[in-house]
Amino acid sequence: MWVEVDGPCEVEILGATERTFEVEGHHFALVHVTGLPEEGATPYEVTLDGERAWPPADWQWPASCVRTVGDDHGLRIGFGSCRCAYPNEPPWTLTKDEDPDGRGHDALRALALRMADQDPDEWPHLLLMLGDQVYADEVAPDTEEFIRARRDVEVPPGLQISDFQEYCRLYRDSWREPAVRWLLSTVPTAMIFDDHDVIDDWNTSRDWVEQMRANGWWDERIVGAFMSYWCYQHLGNLSPADRGEDPCYRAVRAAEGDGGAILRDFAFRADREVAGARWSYRRDIGRTRIVVMDSRAGRVLEPGARSMVDAEEWACIEAWTRGDFDHLLLGTSLPVFLGRGMHFLEAWDEAVSDGAWGRLASHAAERLRQGLDLEHWAAFGDSLRALERLLDAIASGRHGSAPGSVVLLSGDVHHAYIADARPSNGQPAWQAPVYQVVCSPLRNPLDSRERRAIKLAMTGGAERVGRALARSARVQDEPLTWEIADGPWFDNQVAWLDLDGRRCTFRLERAVGAGEELPRLEQVAVRCLA
Ligand SMILES: [Fe+2]
Repeated sequence: MWVEVDGPCEVEILGATERTFEVEGHHFALVHVTGLPEEGATPYEVTLDGERAWPPADWQWPASCVRTVGDDHGLRIGFGSCRCAYPNEPPWTLTKDEDPDGRGHDALRALALRMADQDPDEWPHLLLMLGDQVYADEVAPDTEEFIRARRDVEVPPGLQISDFQEYCRLYRDSWREPAVRWLLSTVPTAMIFDDHDVIDDWNTSRDWVEQMRANGWWDERIVGAFMSYWCYQHLGNLSPADRGEDPCYRAVRAAEGDGGAILRDFAFRADREVAGARWSYRRDIGRTRIVVMDSRAGRVLEPGARSMVDAEEWACIEAWTRGDFDHLLLGTSLPVFLGRGMHFLEAWDEAVSDGAWGRLASHAAERLRQGLDLEHWAAFGDSLRALERLLDAIASGRHGSAPGSVVLLSGDVHHAYIADARPSNGQPAWQAPVYQVVCSPLRNPLDSRERRAIKLAMTGGAERVGRALARSARVQDEPLTWEIADGPWFDNQVAWLDLDGRRCTFRLERAVGAGEELPRLEQVAVRCLA
């Protein structure tokens, strides 16, 4: 159980106690609660130095609960990404077409509102938040007010987040709205960052990194981003055992008073060195394994040796996929399998950036990469093929007996879809189905012009053009292939995997609600995956 409190104290939850640790005036604790019943929802309170602090006296929501899972029947995992934290009232709840500030209804809030009326048995067991949990480069009015009160916004980075203190405020403003606060107090979450948690296009290429480091404000921004990510997202991703072995966590906890300097030093090194920090992690729920792969922070960006993570982290990821599971879920903020047109365009762009069409074209390709966000797995071809070989090994039963399903879960692209993968022609059939499911945004929809562009990029024509381009730049063939099986869907939405024994069902729901109405979730699609 993760808490942030306003001063140093002892935190107690269901008989488990933990001292807070301090990072530059902010106080956190992760309380490891044990001795829970094998299955069910246990209501809890939080006391600080013996005084009840949660729920607050005037709290209108049901009791916060901690859930335990007895077996694998009826395991429900929600996922989504891309959520900006604008107020829940017009003009912000209007569509983007109706008002430039419109971001529609928040799917997380709609989920919380529904859960408040449901039996705990129907609640999700886990929420995977797959990137852009906070927008450091697009802040809501209350965060903006906080920034204006502390510095001159005419000086870069202007109204973007500048340092750790502003990051803490951004997280507060993103997660303190009562519905979402209750949701986070009751549904376990696991998260991984994407670019906007730091900045648009984060680590897209070596050129980009060099441009950013030339800015005077960059170091404070990136250090604040890593420090706050570590406090607000990363620590909660780790199992108690993995967290206990984390050297930075041990040092910060052991510090007398403020451990900020230790974390600051760790954060700076996390930006400057690829080795050292590992943001990928794994969790098991019953016989389902979840491996979440970092595809942003640990990128190797040297031309000719580009990869999503370094060799050591990749070896870890590979090892985590070995074993016998009912379902193997692989989370990564960026989709692995894109629409075919976009896939080939990104693969072509990487090859041309690397010099397939000469020096001049290489510069143009780099500009195109930054302009069009051509930076998914397809633009990291070596990593993509390594992951495809890994999927082939898992689905062929060479990493343990083949699971009931192998599902890649991603966000980032502001639409949702299902892609169905299979071995390339002539390769033996798999023993397990492999899918890519994508759900984005929770709250940050595209306007209708942008939606038309996405649909166009998914057509057969776009695929043919993309394939011809990729061939002309001698992009390597791949060991498997895929097609978009369903979608795209564009609204503010949350997706589900319902797992029952070896069965797996995908569902998608979108947030709807006219005018001043409270938002509801409405089912958009259901598809049996296994
Ligand atoms: Fe993103």
